[in-house]
Order: sequence, then structure tokens, then C-alpha cells
Amino acid sequence: MTRAPLAPYPALRPRRLRQAPWIRDLVRETSLAPSDLIWSMVVHDGEADRIKVPSMPGVERLSVREAAKAAVRARALGIPAIAVFPHIDGAKKDVHGSEAANPQGLIANAVKAMKDAAPEVGIMCDVALDPFTDHGHDGVIQGGRVLNDPTIERLVEQGLMQAAAGADILAPSDMMDGRVGALRTALEAAGHQDVMIMSYAAKYASAFYGPYRDAIGSGKLGSGQVDNPSDKKTYQMDPGNSDEALREVALDIAEGADMVMVKPGMPYLDIVRRVVEAFAVPTFAFQVSGEYAMIMAAAANGWIDEERAILESLGGFKRAGCAGIITYFAERVAERLGG
Ligand code: PBG
Repeated sequence: MTRAPLAPYPALRPRRLRQAPWIRDLVRETSLAPSDLIWSMVVHDGEADRIKVPSMPGVERLSVREAAKAAVRARALGIPAIAVFPHIDGAKKDVHGSEAANPQGLIANAVKAMKDAAPEVGIMCDVALDPFTDHGHDGVIQGGRVLNDPTIERLVEQGLMQAAAGADILAPSDMMDGRVGALRTALEAAGHQDVMIMSYAAKYASAFYGPYRDAIGSGKLGSGQVDNPSDKKTYQMDPGNSDEALREVALDIAEGADMVMVKPGMPYLDIVRRVVEAFAVPTFAFQVSGEYAMIMAAAANGWIDEERAILESLGGFKRAGCAGIITYFAERVAERLGG
């Protein structure tokens, strides 16, 4: 990149380009549009249309019927895609997450209903067992360990079910080794060659997922016989690492990921930037539940301007180089941006 040589003040007054809205608009380097957003949406298998999530003010779990309406809303707002996350009846959870691949289960029903209502809107499904296990871990547990390869077998079943239900993008969020390749191979073999994979390639063991566990009613970590009872550090990445993220992304691309994701978002924008610069592949960030909750909690206290903070937080992802952002703010931001 060539840069103009710096002229000394007063020849150079950077404030000249900030003096009025029109010139600021003209020289702005990045901008945010509804087409940058993937709407992170929680669905549930109960009767109620909408159930509030206490730790995420403004987020509600939607019934399948409401989810179909929301897909129509996404289309009207110009939001290209919805990422759907399940909250299932606790009675259906077990140690193996058996419900994960149920072709008559909540996710299959929600995907079908949304694709019927608004086929133009992309539907992305999380491939992971944690919403379905009673212990809240993302994998098969045996002898106190989260087992990698047996988990992959379950993820493949789950992913094939999602693809058969009409999912456009599979998003493995489990962080098992080799799951992207296994999913890609299985999709090809089943005739789903057009189903895309967005891998949670660099997903960190983060405190910022807290409210999500509330939103999906995740099993309490530590209730199973696991070596790492209260965290996911044997599979999710160490927050201190950056080079490792590049290795994870390289592996997922080699295994067949069409797009990659960094997660969480705001505390990891340096990772986004490195990935964008190192790989010519669409890179997304997930503005996770805890990031949402932080902004809403501060705004509720009158400590920050809610609207501006939301837009600024999402703009930061674009500036870092993201192709798009998975966010719980998608609907309200698209409304605001006039999609
Ligand atoms: C499941 C999954 C998680 C999130 C998305 N998929 C939680 C976790 O890995 O513990 C977090 C989403 C959010 O916090 O908004 N593996």
C-alpha cells in the first residue's frame, strides 16, 4: 500500500476532512449495511410464541411459527442469513445429545419453516452437541474425556440432518479436530455439494458465552464426569494464542471450509485482522451473547448511548476486515440502517 507523504502542519490539517457530514461520508473507509449481518436467533420447542432471555434484554426465544415470520422479516430488511440456535426441553437432553440429529426435532422443523416462508434467506445451523447434552459439553464423553473422533461421527449425523432439512450453511462450532473434512466428505457423498461450511475456525474458550448458555438452557458444565468439569479448554482455544488461530484456519480451509469465523468478536479483532490478511477467504466474526449483554447492560444504566455503541461495535468488525458479522443486534440494526 502506498501512502501519501506526511506534510507538516499547517499544510496538513486532518480535521479538514472531518468538518461536515458530507465530507466525512465521502472519505469514510468502511461502512455497515444490512447485507453484512447474520441474524443470530434462538428458537425453542415450546408453545409460547416468544420467551424473553433475562441476561439478553431484547432477545427472545422464538417458537417455530415465530421463526418463520422472522425469516420473512429478515428478507424485508435485507438481512442475508439467519443463524439458528436451539433451546430444547430439558427432558430431551441426555449424556450423548441424542436429540441433535433428530430429523423431526426442533432444528429440522425450524429450518423447514423458515425456508418455506422465505426461501431467499440463507439459513445457517450450528453443528455442535451442547444444546442437546445434559452436561453442556460439545462432545461425547467417556472416561472423563471429551472424545474427538466419536464426537465427529455424531456431528456428521447432525450436519446431514440439517442439510436434509434445507440448511444452506453448516457451522461447526464444536472445535473437534477434523470435523470440517468429515462433514465435507459426508455432504458430498449425500449429494449436498452446494451446502456451504462456515467453520468456527478460531473459537476461544471464552467467558463471553455466558448468556448464551442461559439462552439455550445449556446443561451446567461440571455435572458430567469430565476431566475439565467447568470449562471447554480442552477443545476451545486458549485466549492467549494468536498463531494457533492461523493454523486452525489453515486446517479448516484445507478440509473444505468455504468461510471461516473468529469467535468471540470484539476481544479478538486482532485475530480477525490476521486471518483476513493471511487467507483470501471470507472471514466472519461472531459478536457473542456476552458482548451483546455488556452493551445492553451499560446502556440500561445510562452509561453508554445504546444505539451508537451498537453501530460502533459492528462497524469495528467491518474495519477489521470482516465479510460479515453474526449478531443478536441484526434485526434492530437493519431497521436502523433502512434495509
Ligand atoms: C456451541 C456454541 C456456543 C456459542 C455458539 N455455539 C457456546 C459454547 O461454545 O460454549 C456461543 C454463542 C454466544 O455466546 O452468543 N458450541
